[in-house]
Amino acid sequence: MQFFIDTANLSQIKEAYELGILDGVTTNPSLMAKEGIKGTEAVIKHYIDICKIANGPVSAEVIATDLDGIIAEGKALAALDKNIVVKVPMIKDGIKAIKWFTDNGIQTNCTLVFSAGQAILAAKAGATYVSPFIGRIDDSSWDGVNLIEQIAHIYRLQGFQTKILAASIRNALHIVRCAEVGADVCTCPLDSILGLLKHPLTDIGLAKFLEDAKSMK
Ligand code: G3P
Repeated sequence: MQFFIDTANLSQIKEAYELGILDGVTTNPSLMAKEGIKGTEAVIKHYIDICKIANGPVSAEVIATDLDGIIAEGKALAALDKNIVVKVPMIKDGIKAIKWFTDNGIQTNCTLVFSAGQAILAAKAGATYVSPFIGRIDDSSWDGVNLIEQIAHIYRLQGFQTKILAASIRNALHIVRCAEVGADVCTCPLDSILGLLKHPLTDIGLAKFLEDAKSMK
């Protein structure tokens, strides 16, 4: 399973990259706004800055919701860097645009996916990635990881090539569960990635090893 970081924060992207386990980055308009990015030029510069650090796929989301607008915006984003993946919402014109991008060799990430039916449509349109939002599903008292498992089963059975990119990750357990049920990628906040490091027995064990090492000097 690949690890993407779900942020537009450059220092967090650098920190995850320095861990040596980062395969890519996903952003969305909310994450860009959180970093105070305003205006087209600033948005473009920020995506270029992210691409310089990431050295892997970087999802950049379109704002347009009509076919011509999505295609124009997506083409401009894709021209910024070879690693840009155009992130398109799961709407009717979004599906048409994903098909157009697929036919024209531009990678896509179909976002705001909350059902297996939506995931089938994204795969039929040729999306490179499909992004089910598991945390938001859990928030509405459904089981987000079950959806990842269902999509993985369908894609395997039907031979769809679209990669399942589990999004809206809230904790380290989400990452483990997504790995268990066959997600291709997990896009996570830095805290959830670092959460994988934690175990009290590791801390206790290390303290004891360091204590005993002193007696060897
Ligand atoms: O990038 C999309 C997704 O990961 C958003 O997560 O935490 O806002 O539900 P969240």
